[in-house]
Amino acid sequence: MADNGTGTNTLSIVDNRTGKQYEVDIHEGDVIRAMDLRQIKVNDDDFGMMSYDPAFTNTASTRSTVTYIDGGKGILRYRGYPIEQLAERSTHLEVAYLLLKGELPTQTELDDFIHEVTFHTYVHENITELFEGFRYDAHAMGMVISGVAALSTFYPEAKDVHDPESRQQQIVRLIAKMPTLAAYAYRHHRGLPYNYPENELGYTANFLNMLFRIGTRTYQPNPVLERALDVLFILHADHEQNCSATTMRVIGSADADPYSAIAGSMGALYGPLHGGANEAVLRMLTRIGSVDNIPAFMEGVKKREERLMGFGHRVYKAYDPRASIIKRTADEVFEVTGRNPLLDIALELERIALNEDFFVERNLYPNVDFYSGLIYQAMGFPVEMFPVLFAIPRTVGWLAQWEEMLNDPEQKIARPRQVFVGSEPRDFVSIGDRS
Ligand code: CMC
Repeated sequence: MADNGTGTNTLSIVDNRTGKQYEVDIHEGDVIRAMDLRQIKVNDDDFGMMSYDPAFTNTASTRSTVTYIDGGKGILRYRGYPIEQLAERSTHLEVAYLLLKGELPTQTELDDFIHEVTFHTYVHENITELFEGFRYDAHAMGMVISGVAALSTFYPEAKDVHDPESRQQQIVRLIAKMPTLAAYAYRHHRGLPYNYPENELGYTANFLNMLFRIGTRTYQPNPVLERALDVLFILHADHEQNCSATTMRVIGSADADPYSAIAGSMGALYGPLHGGANEAVLRMLTRIGSVDNIPAFMEGVKKREERLMGFGHRVYKAYDPRASIIKRTADEVFEVTGRNPLLDIALELERIALNEDFFVERNLYPNVDFYSGLIYQAMGFPVEMFPVLFAIPRTVGWLAQWEEMLNDPEQKIARPRQVFVGSEPRDFVSIGDRS
């Protein structure tokens, strides 16, 4: 490493094929620009050097100011604020404002934002007809993905992604309407009539009302459960460049409208390795069934016949700070709902995993999804709703990442390279001559 005379450190690379030495600038600590490698060539016809990074394990695709994670230390901050403080002292819509605008709102700014979101919670009546087309047992995530994609057809002006005013309107609509779509999917699944949004209720209370109110009775959510759900929303609101946020940025980089892009991000989130893990955890705990069956299950994990769902993380190599907060929230919820009987299995799995070499050596700690499902189940949600409960708050993060990408002059349509390892050129063979 050397200083290039401008105060910037450089990395010296010697190409043993040619004996040439190259100086590559080092930016912001220890980042090199992949394009700086392109100058490394054997001859003028050579395309130039590139890096190969399947699954982007060591590639930064953006500079970002939204969310900071130190995976080794278990730190998570939104716009600089520690997640612990936000979960303790803030609300989901306040955090949404922070993630989107970069600063905590003043009281007037927050009131205006809440008002705007509250008055965009209704969806076009035709969306209910769309939902009627689904089978009674349709997975809620599939329904909400379809619903959000359908919203793009109701707001064609959303295509104007470079107009900040239009963008702002779609952002508000998306944050406002996701709980409505989610609640409608739940009511469809239960064969219950849809409850329209109640605009005098807060964001989370309104969601609970749309989900659980029966008939014309006034619905009063339990304040502990309402707050617990709001805290879970805060914890899930953003997580920097994960699989679904990257999907949002990639789709958005083609100037697609945000409804279509969010539908794509939700598709990524649905996977059991990502936001579908909360559902997979509950199915796993149910399958294990009793603490006595845990040793056999863990043997299966070590033999790689099983994956311990809700454990491990690409970035966290320490306890996921969200999991600690969720564990505390679970205690508060169980005080109201009664203890989820699967909790004992979860606690014992965690105890064993934190003490066994296989998990310790691989830094496998509980992640956000390990305990969240237990709370959702205790609150009365069916497992099919779990990924949807992740998608509602993550919509905020996706939108913050999307706006940042659109405003970043360095970004353009996402288009990775490949290393082609297929066939050399060959001539077409008629079908009758093929062996
Ligand atoms: N159970 C058993 N072994 C595991 C697990 C697990 N949950 N997670 C990782 N490993 C092993 C893996 O087999 C590998 O072992 P080895 O090096 O001997 O081959 C090692 O640990 C490293 O794993 P990896 O698959 O290279 O790690 P990754 O960064 O590619 O994957 C992960 C991260 C989250 C996909 C993975 O840990 C996993 O599948 N976990 C279970 C699913 C889950 O809970 N997902 C939710 C993630 S948090 C919510 C979110 O933001 O999406």
